[in-house]
Amino acid sequence: MTAEIIDGKKIAEEIKNEVKRDVERMRASKGIVPGLAVILVGDNPASQSYVRSKGKACEEAGMYSVTERLPVDTPEYVLLEKIARFNTDPKIHGLLVQLPLPKHISEDEVIRAIDPRKDVDGFHPVNIGKLVIGQDTFKSATPAGIQELLIRSGNDPAGKHVVIVGRSNIVGKPVANMLLQKQKGANAVVTIAHTGAPDLRPYIKSADILIAAIGKPEFIKGEMLKEGAVVIDVGINRVEDSSLPKGYRIVGDVHFESASKVAKAITPVPGGVGLMTIAMLLKNTIKAANQLS
Ligand code: GUN
Repeated sequence: MTAEIIDGKKIAEEIKNEVKRDVERMRASKGIVPGLAVILVGDNPASQSYVRSKGKACEEAGMYSVTERLPVDTPEYVLLEKIARFNTDPKIHGLLVQLPLPKHISEDEVIRAIDPRKDVDGFHPVNIGKLVIGQDTFKSATPAGIQELLIRSGNDPAGKHVVIVGRSNIVGKPVANMLLQKQKGANAVVTIAHTGAPDLRPYIKSADILIAAIGKPEFIKGEMLKEGAVVIDVGINRVEDSSLPKGYRIVGDVHFESASKVAKAITPVPGGVGLMTIAMLLKNTIKAANQLS
C-alpha cells in the first residue's frame, strides 16, 4: 500500500480563499475590517518566524494586523498592560501572545489576562471549559486544523478510534476534546497516549486515526501502525543535515517513508498540519469580529 498524501497546502489555500471572501463580505456589509494583534516577547527564532507568517497571512486576507515585539527582559506587568490596551482597542478583534514566554513571565497569568471574546488561540480557561462541555468557542488553531484536514480529506473521524500521542495543552488535550464531542466532524472514540505509558505500541497499533504530537523526530515507524490507518503528523523537529546549506532539515514525529507503506493516508512534514494552523487562526479572527460587532 502507498498512502494517499493529505495535502495541507492545498486545503489551507482553500480555507484562506474562504477567509478572503468573508473579509470582503464583512467590509462591504458592515464596514468592519477584522483585526488581529500578535505580541511576541523575546527573539526565539521559531516564534519570530511564526509571528511573521501570521502578520503576512492577515495582510494577504485583507485583514488588519498589528505585531508588537517586546524585548526578552520585558517585565510581566508591561506585557499585561499591552494586553489590557488591545483588549479595549475596537480595531482589534483577535489577540494572541506567542508562546513560549521567557521564564520570568507566567503563561497562565498572561493567558488569563486576554479577553476571552478576543482569545483566538482558544487558550483562555473559559474557552477551554466551553470546548470540554461542547459549547461553541474558539477552537485552538492547530487542533482545529487537524479536524479540518480529516474532514476535508474525506476521513471523517465519526465512529473511529482516534489515538493521540502527546498530552500537551496546545495540541493533545484540545484535539481530544474536539474529536470526542457528539457533533458533526467529531464523535470519535478517543484515547490519549503519553509518556506515562510503559509501552506506547499497543495504543498506536489500535489507532484507526493516529495523531502524533510528541515532539520526537521520526519516533513512530510504519511497523507500529495498524494497516490502513490515517496518520496526522503534528511534529516539527529540526534534525542536523550537513548536506543542506542551512545545516538542518525539518521532520515530523512519524517516519514518513515507512509509515506511508502501511497507512491509508498521511500528512507530510512540512506541507501538512503546520500550514493549517494559520488558516484556522484567520477563521477564528473573523468569528471574533462577527461576534464583537
Ligand atoms: N506556540 C506554538 N503554537 C502556538 C499557538 O498556536 N499559539 C501561540 N500563541 N503560541 C504558540
